[in-house]
Amino acid sequence: MRTTIKKQMVTKMLVGVGVIALLTSCVNDQSDKKYDDAIDIPVNQEMIAELTAPPMVPTPVGKRMAKKLIVDLEIQEREGEMTSGVKYVYWTFGGTVPGSFIRTRVGDEIEFHLKNHPDNKLPHNIDLHSVNGPGGGAESSFVAPGHEKVFSFKVLNPGLYVYHCATAPVGMHIANGMYGLILVEPEGGLPPVDKEYYIMQGDFYTEGKYGERGLQPFDMQKAIDENADYVVFNGHVGAMTGDNAITAEVGETVRLFVGNGGPNLVSSFHVIGEIFDKVYVEGGDLVNENVQTTLIPAGGAAIVEFKVEVPGTFILVDHSIFRAFNKGALGMLKVQGEENEKVFAGEIYDGIYLPEGSVIQSMPTSGGAKKPKEEIKALSFEEKMKFGKDKYMATCVACHQANGQGIPGAFPPLANADYLNDDVTRAIDIVLHGKSGEITVNGKKYNSVMTAQALSDEDVANVLTYVYNSWDNNKTNVTPEMVKAVRNR
Ligand code: CU
Repeated sequence: MRTTIKKQMVTKMLVGVGVIALLTSCVNDQSDKKYDDAIDIPVNQEMIAELTAPPMVPTPVGKRMAKKLIVDLEIQEREGEMTSGVKYVYWTFGGTVPGSFIRTRVGDEIEFHLKNHPDNKLPHNIDLHSVNGPGGGAESSFVAPGHEKVFSFKVLNPGLYVYHCATAPVGMHIANGMYGLILVEPEGGLPPVDKEYYIMQGDFYTEGKYGERGLQPFDMQKAIDENADYVVFNGHVGAMTGDNAITAEVGETVRLFVGNGGPNLVSSFHVIGEIFDKVYVEGGDLVNENVQTTLIPAGGAAIVEFKVEVPGTFILVDHSIFRAFNKGALGMLKVQGEENEKVFAGEIYDGIYLPEGSVIQSMPTSGGAKKPKEEIKALSFEEKMKFGKDKYMATCVACHQANGQGIPGAFPPLANADYLNDDVTRAIDIVLHGKSGEITVNGKKYNSVMTAQALSDEDVANVLTYVYNSWDNNKTNVTPEMVKAVRNR
C-alpha cells in the first residue's frame, strides 16, 4: 500500500456556459515539486549512502532531491562481548548490532549491494520493511559467503523501518543480531532537531545464564520458549552506559530512532525522568504527544522526541523492568548544563520515617531443588579482580556506579569510602544480608535500602576484593572463607 504524498492540486473551476474544467498541474522536473504519487518522483544523480554504526545516524536528508542511492552493506559473522567475561558470536549487517543505519528520502531509488564476507560460514539475505515487493527483498538478496547480490527498489512510504535477515532458521539469524533500521524521510526531511541517536533493542538466548563466563552458544530451546537471558540496547550489556552514554545539552531537543529487532520480545520503551514530547507511533505518520512509555513491537520501530530541560543522567529502559536491571536493557543519556529549579528543585526535605514491620528482603535464589552448577573459581589475585569486576558490572553498577562514586543523596560511594574501609566484616554482612536505615559515608548521610544479594561465597569474595582494591580503598583481600564465616555466624 502506498500513501499519497502531500497532494497539491491546482484546481480551477470555470463555470461558464455549463462547462466545468478541472485542471491539475504537474511538472516532473523540479526539485521542490510535490508529487501525487511517490512513484513519479524522478531521481537525477547517484550518491553513495552514508552508513553509520549505532548510536550514530547519518546526516539528515534535508531538502535534497531524490537520488539513486547506492547502499553497500557487508555481512560479518564475528565474536563480540555480550557483557564482561561473556563472549558471543554475532551475525551482523556491517559489523555491528544493530546493523548500519540507512537514511533515505521518499522517492530515492536504492541500489542495494549485499556482500557476504568470504570468512563467513552461512548464507544470509535481507528483508527490508521499507520495500514494496516480495519478501522485502529477501529472495533477491540471498547470498552465499564470498558473494555479492545487487537488487533495487524505490522507497515510497516515509517512516522508520526495520530490516533483518530472513534466512532459515529466521529466528536464529535475527536472534544472533541480524537487524537494523532504515529511515525514509518525507520530502523536505524531518524537522531539524539538536541531537539524533540510533537505538535498537534485542533479546538474546545463551546456553549459560546471565553473566555466565566464556563463549556462550545460542540456545534454540530458550529462544523457542521466549526465555531470554539478555535483553539489551545496541547489542550488548553496557552499549549505552558509562562512557558509552549518549549526550545532550540542557535546552536541546533529542530525537531517538528506536527499533526492536526481537526476535521475540516487545519493548516498553521509557526514559526515566523524561516525557516524550512527540512519538511517531510505530515509526509512521501518526504523532502522539506527551507520552511516558511507548510500545515497540518486535520488528517495529518508533521515533521519539523530547526537549531536555535539566541536567542529569536519564536512564533508558525497557519498562518490563527486570529486563532493565537484570538482563541488560538499560542505557544512559547524560545531559549537561544549567540547573533549572522551576522545572526540578531536587530534594527539599529529608526527615525520619520509620514504618512498623519494615524488613529487608532477600533476593530469591533460582531453582530451589536444582543443584547449583559447579562454578569456575578464581585461582589468582588477578583472576579474583577480573571476576570481581565482572560481577560488580553485572550487579552493583546500577546503584554504586562504574567508578564506585555512588549517586549523591541516594546510593553511597564505594570509592575511598571510610564506611567500607573501617570494617570488612560489616561489608561482607551487608552484601550477604542487605542493609537499610541511615548510614554516614565520608561525612554524608545516606538512607536507602540495599537488598541481600544471592551470591556465592566465591562471588562475594571476588566482588569485595575488586572493590577494596580499586578507587583508593585499603586493598583488603577478601577470601571465600571470610565470607563463609560471616554467613554462618
Ligand atoms: Cu542471516
